[in-house]
Amino acid sequence: VHWTAEEKASITYVWEKVDLEHDGHHVLCRLFTTYPWTQRYFGSFGNVSNETTIYGNSKVKAHGKKVLEALDKAAHNLDDIKTILHDLSHTHANELHIDPENFKRLCEVLVIVLAIKLGSAFTPSRHAAVEKFVAVVVHALGHGYF
Ligand code: HEM
Repeated sequence: VHWTAEEKASITYVWEKVDLEHDGHHVLCRLFTTYPWTQRYFGSFGNVSNETTIYGNSKVKAHGKKVLEALDKAAHNLDDIKTILHDLSHTHANELHIDPENFKRLCEVLVIVLAIKLGSAFTPSRHAAVEKFVAVVVHALGHGYF
């Protein structure tokens, strides 16, 4: 993947605004609410079936942070995303048995959380750079499935 200087600057700009714990929590809340079948992978987290229980759930909070920490590494190593996500891809494929379609859903809600956070600063060109970033992430996470 080739990144232009403008795309890199856009991703840096957007990603600097991210609060890994707070925004990670919002991402999982939207994932579980909008795509309820994703809840079933998280049986050990207790009740994640509605906004109130999701927001009050400390396991969800801790997990949201872990997910965004992995994406944080990717955002800081744009030329190396495949390597950074290599082990996670294998874990999700072979141990957790996550349907990889769900990576797209998670990335979709991430983009929405970022758009809400940035408002008008989420310009079309920044949006485009973020979409490219999440497309590369989804592709890298899909690698362990082959
Ligand atoms: C665990 C990242 C998407 C389900 C994890 C962990 C990370 C992570 C860092 C912790 C791994 C460890 O402790 O070794 C990501 C990233 C994603 C993603 C970066 C996409 C951008 C998903 C999706 C699902 C999912 C879409 C399901 C719908 C799980 C489950 C665990 C896990 C069930 C284990 C949780 C536990 O029991 O602690 N993920 N994940 N992940 N992930 Fe993901």
